[in-house]
Amino acid sequence: MGMEARNNRDGFGSKLGVIAAAAGSAIGLGNIYRFPCELGENGGAAFLLVYLAVVVLLGIPVMLSELVIGRHSQLNAVGAFRKLAPKSAWPVVGYMGVLCGFLIFSFYSTVAGWTLEYIVKAVDNSFSGKDLAAIEKDFEDFHNQGWRNVMWQAAFIFLTGFVVFRGVKNGIEKFTKILMPLLLVILVVLGIRSVTLPDAGKGLAFLFSPDFSKITGKVLISALGQGFFSLSMGMGVLITYGSYIKKTDNLATTALSVTLSDTLVALLAGIVIFPAAFSFGVNPKAGMGLVFNTIPMIFNQMAGGYFFCIVFFVLLAIAALTSTISLLEVVVAYLSEELHIKRQWATVLACLGTMLIGVFASLSLKAGSPFRMGGTSFFDLLDFVSSNILLPLGGMLIIVFVGWRMGKPKFFEEVTNEGRLKMPLKKAIFFVVKYLAPLAIAVIFITGLIR
Ligand code: PFF
Repeated sequence: MGMEARNNRDGFGSKLGVIAAAAGSAIGLGNIYRFPCELGENGGAAFLLVYLAVVVLLGIPVMLSELVIGRHSQLNAVGAFRKLAPKSAWPVVGYMGVLCGFLIFSFYSTVAGWTLEYIVKAVDNSFSGKDLAAIEKDFEDFHNQGWRNVMWQAAFIFLTGFVVFRGVKNGIEKFTKILMPLLLVILVVLGIRSVTLPDAGKGLAFLFSPDFSKITGKVLISALGQGFFSLSMGMGVLITYGSYIKKTDNLATTALSVTLSDTLVALLAGIVIFPAAFSFGVNPKAGMGLVFNTIPMIFNQMAGGYFFCIVFFVLLAIAALTSTISLLEVVVAYLSEELHIKRQWATVLACLGTMLIGVFASLSLKAGSPFRMGGTSFFDLLDFVSSNILLPLGGMLIIVFVGWRMGKPKFFEEVTNEGRLKMPLKKAIFFVVKYLAPLAIAVIFITGLIR
C-alpha cells in the first residue's frame, strides 16, 4: 500500500507552506493560554528557565526525529512504525499518539470554544468600563453555563472538521501564512502596553528573575510537559506532517524555525500577561482566568482597545484552529490510511468521538460539577495525562526509535536529503537523539515521580 498511498497523498505546496503548517500546529493556546498558566502556577522565572532548557535540549532533536520518521516512511503515525519496523511492537508508539491526539483535542476544544465566546463579547463591547472584579465575574458566570461552553466547543470542532475535510494543502497553508505574523504584531503591541502599566516591573521580575529553590519535581515535569505540548511533539503530528514534506525540503531548518517562532510567541505571551496581571492585581496562580481576564483589562487601557480586542480574539481562535487541525489530522490520517475509512467519513467519525469525550471536559469545569474527582476536574485529568505523561513518553520512544532502531545512516540520509545538503551539526544532534535526550526525559520523569 506504500506506493499507492504515496501517490495519492496530499502535500504542501511550498517550503513556506510546510513551515507555516508546522508552526501553525505549534503556536496556539499552548503558548498564549497554557504557558502563562503553567508558569504562574510553577514559580515564575524558575519554570521559564527549565522550560527553555527543555526547548533547547529536546526541541530540535525530537522534532527532527519525528520529521525524519514521517518523511522517510511517507505514512501516518502508526503506518510509519509498521513500515520502518515490521513485525515489531513499535507501532504501539503510533497508536499512543493517535489516542493522545484524540484526548488533547477533547479538552483543547473546550478552551478553543472560549475564544469564540470572547469574540462575541468583544464585538458586544462587553468589557468596556468594567473593573477586574466584573470581568472575573463574567468569566465565572460563563463557566457556570455549562451548555454554552459545550455549544462553542461543538462549533469549534465543526470548524476544525470542515478544514480537515477539505484536505491538507487547501486547508492549512492558507490560514497560517498570513495570520500568524499578524498575531505576532498584535502581541508586540499588547506587550508594549503591558510593560508600561504601573507596577509592571513586579510582573517582569516574576517572569525573569528566578528563585532556584522553586525548582521542584513538579516544576520539572510541568516544564517538560509544556515543552512537548507547545512544540506539538511526542504524538506524531510531525510524523504526519513530515510525511507530506517534499524530499527537497530542509528538515533541520524547518525544525529550527518552528522551535524558534513557537518559543518567541510563548515569551511574548509571558511579557503581555505578567506585567499586566501584577499591575491589575490578578493572581498569577489564577489558572483558567489568568489570560481571559487579564487580556480584556489591557485592552480597556488602550487607545483603539475595542477594535484590537476583537482582532486579538479572532487571531487567537485562528491560532487555536491551526493547532486543532493538526490534532485531528493525526487521527484522520490514521483512520483513512490504516483502516481504509474514506477520509471524509474518518473526519466525521473522529469529530463525533472527540465531542463525546469533550462534553465531559467542558462540563467538568462548572462549580460543583459531578465530573470532578476530589479537586481535579476531568478537564485537568485529560490535560495532565496527555501533556505531562503521554507526550514526553511518546517523545522518548520516538527518539529511542530513531537513535537505536533506524540508526545513524538513515538519519543522516534523511536530514541531508541523501547527501545533497550540508548539515554541519548532524553528528552532535544524533548524539543528543541517541543518548542525551532519552536520558534527560527519563531523569525528569523519575525526579517528578519521587519528588
Ligand atoms: N502545540 C499546540 C499549542 O501550543 O497550542 C497544541 C498541540 C497541538 C499539542 C498538536 C500537541 C499536538 F500534537
